[in-house]
Order: sequence, then C-alpha cells, then structure tokens
Amino acid sequence: MRIIYCDSVFDNKIIEPDYEEEKKSAINVGFDFSLISFEELVDENIATSLRFVKEAASKEYGLYRGWMLTPNQYQNLYIGLLKKNIELINSPTEYKHCHYLPESYSKIESKTPKSNWTKELTNDSIIKLTREFEDSPIIVKDFVKSEKHNWEDACFIPNASNSDKVKSVVNKFIELRGDFLNEGLVFRQFEELEFLTEHSKSGMPLTKEFRVFFANKKIVKVLDYWDEGEYGDTKPELDDFIEIAQRIESNFFTMDVAKRKNGEWIIMELGDGQVAGLPDNADGNEFYNKLREIIVQ
Ligand SMILES: Nc1ncnc2c1ncn2[C@@H]1O[C@H](COP(=O)(O)OP(=O)(O)O)[C@@H](O)[C@H]1O
Ligand SMILES: [Mg+2]
Repeated sequence: MRIIYCDSVFDNKIIEPDYEEEKKSAINVGFDFSLISFEELVDENIATSLRFVKEAASKEYGLYRGWMLTPNQYQNLYIGLLKKNIELINSPTEYKHCHYLPESYSKIESKTPKSNWTKELTNDSIIKLTREFEDSPIIVKDFVKSEKHNWEDACFIPNASNSDKVKSVVNKFIELRGDFLNEGLVFRQFEELEFLTEHSKSGMPLTKEFRVFFANKKIVKVLDYWDEGEYGDTKPELDDFIEIAQRIESNFFTMDVAKRKNGEWIIMELGDGQVAGLPDNADGNEFYNKLREIIVQ
C-alpha cells in the first residue's frame, strides 16, 4: 500500500514540509510512499507530476494525503496512478461524493443544517434561495469551502431576509474565493453551537467540533477539530453517525460533527479523507497504525 504525498515546491525529491511528520508515521507503521508534484498536476502536466512515482510490479493500492484537488484534478491523478498499477482508495466519483456538499447532502440531511445551493451567481437565484430561510441566521460557502476566517464580512448572515446584508456578504465571499470558487454557492441554516473559544488569529467563534475519520465505514480516529480551547470532557455521541457512515459512498472520508447548544450532535460537513487535514493534536503514529489495521487486509 502506497501513500502519495506532494513534494516541496522547491525540490521534487523532498516532501512538502507540512506532511513530513505524517510521512514518518506512515513509514513507521509499514506504508511505502511516493511523491507527486502538486503544481504540475494542477497545470495538467500529469506525466511530469507523477514522474517520481515508481510503477508497481503488480497491482498496488494507494492513498493520497495532500492538498485539496478539484474532482477533475483528482481524476487526472487517479488515472495517472492506475497507469502505474496503483489504485487509489476512492474512485473519482467517490472523491466527489464527499468533496462537494450537494453530492452527499441527501445522505446526511436528517443530521445536518438545512441547506440549499445554486451554480448561478445571479442576484435572483441568491435572493430566491436565501428567502427559503425566512428571517433565520444563515451561512454562505461554496460546494467545498467557506470563508470562515472572514466570519462577519463573508460567511455569517444574521438575518436571511435582509437582502442588502445577503448581497454584501455573498459578494464579499465571491470576491475572496476569486478563481478558487468551487462550483457555486451553498446556503445553510446557522445553528447555535456550544462555544469553545475565539480563534487566536481571526477572532472567529470556535465551537466544540470533532473530526471523525472513517475508512471502510469504520472509525479510524475521533479528533478535536480545533487545536485551541478547552474541550473538557465533551465527547461526541457517535451511534447515529456510524449508522449514517454506512450509507456514504466513499472508502475514506471525514465527518466533522458539532454540538448544538441544546445538546444535540449534528454533522457540519463531510470531506474526502485524503485531502482532510489531520489536526495538530493528532498522534500520527496512532492514526496511521489504525488506518493500516483497517485498510490493509
Ligand atoms: N450552519 C452552521 N451553523 C453554525 N456554525 C457553522 C455552520 N456552518 C459552519 N459553521 C461554522 O463555521 C465553520 C466552517 O464551516 P465549514 O462548513 O466547515 O466550512 P469549511 O469547509 O471552510 O471548513 C464550522 O467549523 C463551524 O464552526
Ligand atoms: Mg470545515
């Protein structure tokens, strides 16, 4: 089983420094690894991107751990690796399923804030969608990411019926996402969550959220989502989420869960496990060990 990491921008033979510790853990527990060039992949120079990936003598399974990819970039990586006899843990369709919120929304609908979306960035469709929330507070994001660190200006809308505020926050969001806007806009009902602390850099209100990694529908690890603030004894109740996980069409994904002020646990979002960050508080050896136990038969 091969873990695929990104190289450092400056030297194709060296791993991207942010993943150095992870790589050590992966090797410790018995994984092999190869490096690709993220920049070449993005530029669609796939053969160049993968030039240091050694072809497997017989079919080998692979798992990418690196920066987020668009579904198209992921597909290029997937096919490029297949040509070298390496099959990534998720097919391009499985990758997209957890990467774009609208793709898996129906699977998590009962446990996640009410959401709607559009690919049309027109005033008409923005107003039509936000009206569905009447005068509730909402947040805006694209199919993948929010501008959570610009909470007041580009994420949170205190009253969905205030069309001036809707327009200013959404326009700021679109401006900040720029060329990196993923597909379109998603609006979500804002839920009051249990407060943790204020983010030390952006001042964004942090809440008691956890990141749960699932591989082959089994829990790999439950991690504190934020690396600051005191979580105390809070631990998520996972029974309902484990049940939902069985219906998610992916072999490796994350489920971010949060606690509402009324005590109920909800799903914030899903993500493909290959491009989800491992929080700093995670024990890398433990993570890769458990991952190996689950996916390497
Ligand atoms: N509907 C919501 N209700 C309450 N808080 C939310 C909601 N959506 C997002 N947040 C807060 O904003 C953060 C970022 O939202 P998220 O959807 O995870 O976007 P990103 O993909 O940018 O991480 C969440 O971790 C949570 O703290
Ligand atoms: Mg998130």
